Amino acid sequence: MREALRTIKENTLSHEAWRSETLNMIASENITSGAVARAVASGFSHKYAEGWPTARFYQGCKYFDEVELAGNSLYYQLFDAQYVDLRPISGTNANLALFFGLAERGDTLMALHTSDGGHISHTGFGSAGIRGLEVTTFPFDQKEMNIDPDAMVAHILEVRPKLILFGASMFLFPHPVKEAVDAAAEVGATIAYDGAHVLGLIAGKQFQDPLSEGAKVLTGSTHKTFFGPQGGLIVTRGLEDDLLGKMQWGVFPGVLSNHHLHHVAAKAVAAAEMLDYGEAYAQAVVRHAQALAQALYEEGLDVLCEEKGFTESHQVVIDVSGNGGGKLVAGDLEAANIICNKNLLPWDPIERSDDPSGIRIGVAELTRLGMQTHEMAEVAAFYRRVILSKEDPSAVAADVTSFRSGFQDVHFGYRWEDI
Ligand SMILES: Cc1ncc(COP(=O)(O)O)c(C=O)c1O
Repeated sequence: MREALRTIKENTLSHEAWRSETLNMIASENITSGAVARAVASGFSHKYAEGWPTARFYQGCKYFDEVELAGNSLYYQLFDAQYVDLRPISGTNANLALFFGLAERGDTLMALHTSDGGHISHTGFGSAGIRGLEVTTFPFDQKEMNIDPDAMVAHILEVRPKLILFGASMFLFPHPVKEAVDAAAEVGATIAYDGAHVLGLIAGKQFQDPLSEGAKVLTGSTHKTFFGPQGGLIVTRGLEDDLLGKMQWGVFPGVLSNHHLHHVAAKAVAAAEMLDYGEAYAQAVVRHAQALAQALYEEGLDVLCEEKGFTESHQVVIDVSGNGGGKLVAGDLEAANIICNKNLLPWDPIERSDDPSGIRIGVAELTRLGMQTHEMAEVAAFYRRVILSKEDPSAVAADVTSFRSGFQDVHFGYRWEDI
């Protein structure tokens, strides 16, 4: 037992030390402020609070009630919402609640194929399948790296889905939500939007606002471009009362009994940070992604969508099939202290998940660490040294560590002692 404990402690500390030396560019990750981290470590981590504020199934919630109400009000403000639910404990959990609330077993869900950027929770082998939904995929334009709007309208009218779910894991450009509204109304479908990846960009007003464009439900993760902690949420605008009630039932008792109260407290702090800094942060994120993509392209890498300016989000996608493939490249980058993930590209069959053609990189964490636009050229040069010049990754790692040592503080957020 002692040995196991030592292993846990040592590896936790090693992970933290290593992460402080790396460029973490996993597009679905970010770093939290001291205030958010402190709320996660609070006494709410071992408390139950099923039910609604002031109407709980458990005693001892008088302080947490105030926290949940304050958190909700910050999110209402942030998203100009009809209803906010901070209880889902992950983006997947929020999607599952959506599927339970807004669809019945046997209904059809329209979502993106995994190779085109769809998330596993949108698939027949993931949450949608567990809910018993039939999944049909959006027609995808590989050159535009986006849903084909005309073909999408025709497909909606033909297939008559119950639920149309926009949003993606590989997500470079805003989706054609507005273009789906009339067809969705004609077949009686509800439009929802999985903003797991781009939630912080939506909150910072630098990406499409799906709720203004015709989506009635926004689901998301709170820890990708948003300011953390790990968690999920649901936001609605204009959703019919009966559907809203069904979705609330989908959350509790559908996919949750207790929610994670310490994460609700931390999500509340993260929302305040977004209200204060979100716009400047999201502008910087998009600017950095575009600068990084341009610099990687100039270094000689096959960055997708040059004609479209590469990206309008926090992500950059590179085809590395000519450089040994996604598995090898992501592994070499990790050995050089650059952490990103291999990724399926639209032309990859799903069987290639273990060794796909692409890598996907994100700049949210670098931005929070205070990097500026001009630093993206230095980051791109590290990628070139590993992927094209085939330098020994350990030599690059030493330079990455030295570069990273200048970026140790979290920006766009609060210290606990300041709130
Ligand atoms: C589009 C999309 N939806 C949902 C999720 C799931 O989020 P979580 O990890 O919070 O369950 C992800 C995760 O990467 C995602 O990319």
